Amino acid sequence: MNALSKDLTKLVKMIEKIESRSGEPDRFRPRFHLAPPAGWLNDPNGLCQYQGLYHAFFQYSPFDVEGGLKLWGHSTSRDMLHWEYQGAALYPDQPFDCHGVYSGCALTEDGRISFYYTGNVKLDGDFDYVTEGREANTILVESGDGFRFGRKQLLMTNEDYPEDVTKHVRDPKVWKENGIYYMIQGARRKDDVGEALLFASSDRIHWLLKNRITTKEPFGFMWECPDYFEIDGKKVLSASVQGLEGEKWKDKNVYQSGYFEVKGNVAEQCTLSEYVLWDYGFDYYAPQSFETEDGRRVQIGWMGMPDCPEHTNRTIEDGWQHCFTIPREIYVKDGRVLQRPVRELEERKRILAEATGGLYVEEEPVYEARIAEIKENQFHAVLGEELILEYRDSRFEMRFINPSKDNASGGRTLRYQEIETLNNVTILTDVSTCEVFVNDGEYVFSTRFYPENYGLQIQADEAKIKMWELVS
Ligand code: FRU
Repeated sequence: MNALSKDLTKLVKMIEKIESRSGEPDRFRPRFHLAPPAGWLNDPNGLCQYQGLYHAFFQYSPFDVEGGLKLWGHSTSRDMLHWEYQGAALYPDQPFDCHGVYSGCALTEDGRISFYYTGNVKLDGDFDYVTEGREANTILVESGDGFRFGRKQLLMTNEDYPEDVTKHVRDPKVWKENGIYYMIQGARRKDDVGEALLFASSDRIHWLLKNRITTKEPFGFMWECPDYFEIDGKKVLSASVQGLEGEKWKDKNVYQSGYFEVKGNVAEQCTLSEYVLWDYGFDYYAPQSFETEDGRRVQIGWMGMPDCPEHTNRTIEDGWQHCFTIPREIYVKDGRVLQRPVRELEERKRILAEATGGLYVEEEPVYEARIAEIKENQFHAVLGEELILEYRDSRFEMRFINPSKDNASGGRTLRYQEIETLNNVTILTDVSTCEVFVNDGEYVFSTRFYPENYGLQIQADEAKIKMWELVS
């Protein structure tokens, strides 16, 4: 630890202490969703399970609740639901990461975790900060226990990336296959086309560019936080895409997170399918996945959205902002890629109510409700008298009654998706988070919300309704 990181450690602890007394820090704090102790959180980083323990790192700005200099915060868990904050883990304390320890991943192997991340550097001067004026360095730092870290090693600089990409290259995700290490990074080309760069290495330290992956037609100007995994014979390339325009993207978020199915070999030649969104709600970005020790593919997203001044979060008054989604198992059924909350949540469920056709429950801030065997697409729910979930005109809608920023919505209005047949809906509410899994998680809608009361009202003729409170 150098002198700068020593002092930063003290400062972070101080600010966390001060902020934990501002406003009502726990008024909107979710029970099972990872949230920062103070300040701002964005992307999930370095997700892994190591010697039984789950580690989640996160983009963390403790000094600025609206997002500033990025560190890695660190939390651990035994069940992916109860998270214990462990302090800041990585500081921007080197010339090659002095403007932010940006996003990255974890690779667990042979009694160590290798963390790869982007060291962000912004040079002083009159630059556009796209084609010049910044550095995106690929950095490796290792740990034997997940808590103490070795020396940071600079592996690649902008010189090592193709000449026709801008300075925007970042967010390494690494995996190993047949004895070879692969790394995927997001990039913005100089002609403003987004793509993913695929590198390979035999020793996890020296990397060579093997492939550049993009769509046939340009698709956005930047791909952030790429991820790649295989599940049930499907090859999935996930990317958070900036710059999508046109009819299809109107009424959607400013940036998107979704995936392509890959045909061929990502390291050699491949083509990409249509892009499918991971989430159709207001708050979902930069997801990362990892494999649990029992072989599940679990994905966690940032339950927020960058560059979106029309939305606010009422926790800002309480000195903190944003949280993660519930960890979601990715699974394949009938050829479709689906998502469901991790099965650990089952153990937290206590039955509250059971009904057919309709249900009204008052004041329950942390619950799961399942509406199954829906008939003729009839479904209408109101949460906290403010948030409506409804199927109408062949589409599933998530909409707030009142879009005022001081209200439950924090400025959010309407999100929807065309869905042919509605079979079932699962609603997961955790104080200020709401995640809605439609048709066993074929479509998911996530949003933050800040209700004054927690009533839940459901109407769905003849459907079977069950509601559970979720207990710690
Ligand atoms: C995505 C992102 C990443 C970057 C990080 C910085 O939200 O912009 O591309 O590494 O956030 O906080």
